Amino acid sequence: MNLVFLGAPGSGKGTQAMRLAHRLSIPHLSTGDLLRAAVRDNTPLGRDAQKYMAAGELVPDQVIIGLIGEKQAAGELARGFILDGFPRTVPQAEALDALVGDGAGIDRAILLQVDRDEIVRRLSNRLYCEACQVIYGMATNPPRRAGVCDRCGGRLRPRADDAPDVIGHRLDVYRQQSQPVEEYYRTRSLLLMIAGVGTPDQIFSRVAAGLNVSVDA
Ligand code: AP5
Ligand code: MG
Repeated sequence: MNLVFLGAPGSGKGTQAMRLAHRLSIPHLSTGDLLRAAVRDNTPLGRDAQKYMAAGELVPDQVIIGLIGEKQAAGELARGFILDGFPRTVPQAEALDALVGDGAGIDRAILLQVDRDEIVRRLSNRLYCEACQVIYGMATNPPRRAGVCDRCGGRLRPRADDAPDVIGHRLDVYRQQSQPVEEYYRTRSLLLMIAGVGTPDQIFSRVAAGLNVSVDA
């Protein structure tokens, strides 16, 4: 299956995409995670992207399309995929269609719908592991030991772009630049709208039902 997750910052794309990738045994590619790893490793891509990310702006289309193009060239999209955080502009959606080809195409674009107050609450309580990128929420899925990643023992920290002033700007950027992508998939009858409030388990059940897959493998 070729799937993309759409939704505002903090709507739960990463949380749900990770679960679904595990359930379907297909790769989960998050452009945000790829960029944060590049920033952490101080690569040329990371140095270029950092200033956009810290300000809550989108990284330029040609950089992101190039990144996904590299993944495709390396065969990482060949046996199905779940994209999280890409595409987030219409030119990115068009580039993705060109990359995956008309025959294979995108099967579904899953849109997680969450209101602004809940998003601000979630992002103010998020920690992530810089080493392995696992996401924690202090309310729903706190780590077993404070500040330490359950999976790899790495140090947990807030994301630089989860500062209160940056959260507001990221939400505005989503409305202006990424909401048209929802329309892009709606007009192609590919948009699956999911209420993104409730427990992560409840939301996963809705996503699975919408895709006609069982919750358990
Ligand atoms: P990216 O990393 O994609 O960030 P984002 O889209 O802003 O989304 P988030 O990762 O903040 O939220 P999420 O929806 O994944 O939610 P999560 O599951 O973590 O992008 C970061 C930056 O990189 C961009 O601003 C841009 O600069 C750049 N970038 C990336 N892709 C790009 C592209 N294609 N083009 C241009 N630039 C790009 O959940 C959030 C929190 O809520 C967590 O703490 C979680 O535990 C908790 N939570 C999850 N589900 C629930 C629930 N049901 N109830 C309560 N809490 C929950
Ligand atoms: Mg994410």
